[in-house]
Amino acid sequence: MTPQISKGIVLAGGSGTRLHPLTQVTNKHLLPIFDKPMIYYPLSTLMLSGVREILIISTPEDLPRFERLLGDGNRWGMRLSYAAQPSPDGLPQAFLIGEEFIENDRVALILGDNIFYGHGLPLLLQKVVGKAKAGGTIFAHTVRDPERFGVVAFDTDGKALSIEEKPKIPKSHWAVTGLYFYGPEVCRLVRSLQPSARGELEISDLNQLYLEAGNLQVERLGRGITWLDAGTPDALATAGQFVRTIQTLQNTAVACPEEVAFRMGFIDREQLAEAIRPIASSPYGKYLATLLEAGWQA
Ligand code: G1P
Repeated sequence: MTPQISKGIVLAGGSGTRLHPLTQVTNKHLLPIFDKPMIYYPLSTLMLSGVREILIISTPEDLPRFERLLGDGNRWGMRLSYAAQPSPDGLPQAFLIGEEFIENDRVALILGDNIFYGHGLPLLLQKVVGKAKAGGTIFAHTVRDPERFGVVAFDTDGKALSIEEKPKIPKSHWAVTGLYFYGPEVCRLVRSLQPSARGELEISDLNQLYLEAGNLQVERLGRGITWLDAGTPDALATAGQFVRTIQTLQNTAVACPEEVAFRMGFIDREQLAEAIRPIASSPYGKYLATLLEAGWQA
């Protein structure tokens, strides 16, 4: 049987310099995106992919706060563990820190400031997870300012040609989003990377290795899916407004781990009721209570 992705990593480290002074005493990924801490969004995306075992990586000083917020994941039917990234030496470092956690499994990595929302996204992610072949899968989305991101260029048949990190002259408007799926070979490949001019290991170099080996699938996310990274003051405000607008118009919650756990069948009605108890008086808790009233079956 081909191995299935069962594990995920949320990278929530860094010093958040682009958000100073907001991040002077608070880790970026704990800042609010409307009514929830930022990390709830990437965490929910991994949960919607079907991943239940997640390693959270952050700075040694911030890690205890994440543990206080999220615990061992049991109340959401998850297994959460924690590891420290003493210095931010690049995104691929997550695979070296998480090597023991990954063992010989496929693994998803999501950046703690990436927010994905859209109809059909869970099915798309579950399809990628289900394929479970060796190699990597990444997702691209069009943006106005590609020079801020990893950029993928395609040929006229839609085949990916190159991936460049923050190019001065981008070859396309397709940005590489912060969600990556790899086989267990990823740890070995990361070891062969050299630091870039800014002194960090680059995820785009890792993706370029997979691409050159003919082992990278690039899924283009269509306009029905919204992708935001919340790493700048403008992007943070936009993300909060976006979530508030969707939630208010649709009377739904975006990235609510209790709801995702319930709908994915990670927890049952009793466990949902239990998870609501400590947060029952907030609008967040009241929304969750409506799922019980409506008699939702997971
Ligand atoms: C990182 C990656 C970049 C990717 C982006 C997505 O950039 O290096 O390739 O497009 O995340 O959010 P950073 O946000 O660390 O500058």
